[in-house]
Amino acid sequence: MGYSILGVTTMETLKWGIIGGGLMGREFASALGRWFALTGDVPPALLVAVCDLNPTARDWFKRVPGVTQITGEADELLANPDVDAVYVALPHNLHREFYVRTLQSGKDLLAEKPFGIDLEAAQFVCDEAKRLGRFVRCSSEMPFLPGAQRAWKMAQQLDVLGRVLEVRSGFLHSSDLDPNKAANWKRQNRFCGENGVLNDLGMHVAHVPLRLGWKPSRVYAQLQHGFGERPDGRGGMTVCDTWDNALLHCDVEIGGEVVPMRWETKRMAPTETNTWYFEVLGTKGGVRFSTKTPKTLFVFENGREQSWKAIDLGHASVFETVTGGIFEFGFPDSILQMLAAFACERAGVLGDRFGMATPDEAVASHQVWAAALQSHAEKRAIEVE
Ligand SMILES: NC(=O)c1ccc[n+]([C@@H]2O[C@H](COP(=O)([O-])OP(=O)(O)OC[C@H]3O[C@@H](n4cnc5c(N)ncnc54)[C@H](O)[C@@H]3O)[C@@H](O)[C@H]2O)c1
Repeated sequence: MGYSILGVTTMETLKWGIIGGGLMGREFASALGRWFALTGDVPPALLVAVCDLNPTARDWFKRVPGVTQITGEADELLANPDVDAVYVALPHNLHREFYVRTLQSGKDLLAEKPFGIDLEAAQFVCDEAKRLGRFVRCSSEMPFLPGAQRAWKMAQQLDVLGRVLEVRSGFLHSSDLDPNKAANWKRQNRFCGENGVLNDLGMHVAHVPLRLGWKPSRVYAQLQHGFGERPDGRGGMTVCDTWDNALLHCDVEIGGEVVPMRWETKRMAPTETNTWYFEVLGTKGGVRFSTKTPKTLFVFENGREQSWKAIDLGHASVFETVTGGIFEFGFPDSILQMLAAFACERAGVLGDRFGMATPDEAVASHQVWAAALQSHAEKRAIEVE
């Protein structure tokens, strides 16, 4: 992935294509547009090609320097020899087809969550990536927030935490509280998948626990529907049949003990706007981070008095940037950091830094979602595959 000039190793530029230039396609392009903010050993990266069916979505990318191909045909982008890796950000019903086409075209893949509409699709893509030997990762940017990183590191220190008593991981939205908000494909099972909100937000809550090795062994799920109909954006109403809220009460083995772990994903959580949180409580110590207070990490050390210590974090990023350490970190920064992790891991220079969600982790998350759906239907706890 690199070459040497006069004994100095230079990393090759990672040339990207995007299939699906909607909300996340634009976010991805914006993050690549400030790649020069990264100052460490990160390979250069450039967006060169974009594919979207929608001409308005395509037009937006005319503003992006370096893009030489804008097309409505995915096959044209996949045949472009200049493209090394493709970010595919499409509705969930299209994941399997377009992920596999990308892999079979010889490109590496940055997949969006949930990595296929269901477990069977996720497993198929995972197997195909291994068979073809392609580098594949799944999008999950929240763990790259400085507070999430500190919480992840502390969660590994069982000597500091003592016996772990409880783990909570969640991702909460409130936008669906408005019944007049128009429906989009994310509210309909045939596009979003039967897992509903778990397909939409589940990877965000699963990534850190799975990376810690904390895969649930058993799950009891409570799933809720939101509004059954919404405006269709064309003057009529349309059916919304996805699960909107999901509470997963899990068993997980940590340090030889079975520990309760709660995974919470909600589109109808009053007062919450894109709130991601992760909390571990032990007998000796604990840690809590929430994007509600994005620059503060809360640490608990058991002493005579019960209290949280609040630590201001600053811009403590995984990959160094030009941004001063005292400044605040935000959502676009987490996308930039996640893309840096993809580029570094693909080039073999990630080291011990946090990496993106792997295909195996995506499959593991789908195994939990499948058990959750069965649990809710049968009103009992289900062993996870
Ligand atoms: N990581 C995150 O934080 C995050 C946030 C939101 C969405 N997502 C995920 O990103 C993916 C896309 O979601 P989004 O919100 O960007 O959706 P979106 O609806 O905003 O964009 C999807 C785009 O795909 C295009 N498209 C549809 N079919 C196509 C085809 N056959 N060929 C080419 N283009 C086609 C549409 O025209 C649209 O522009 C989903 O998997 C979603 O779960 C991730």
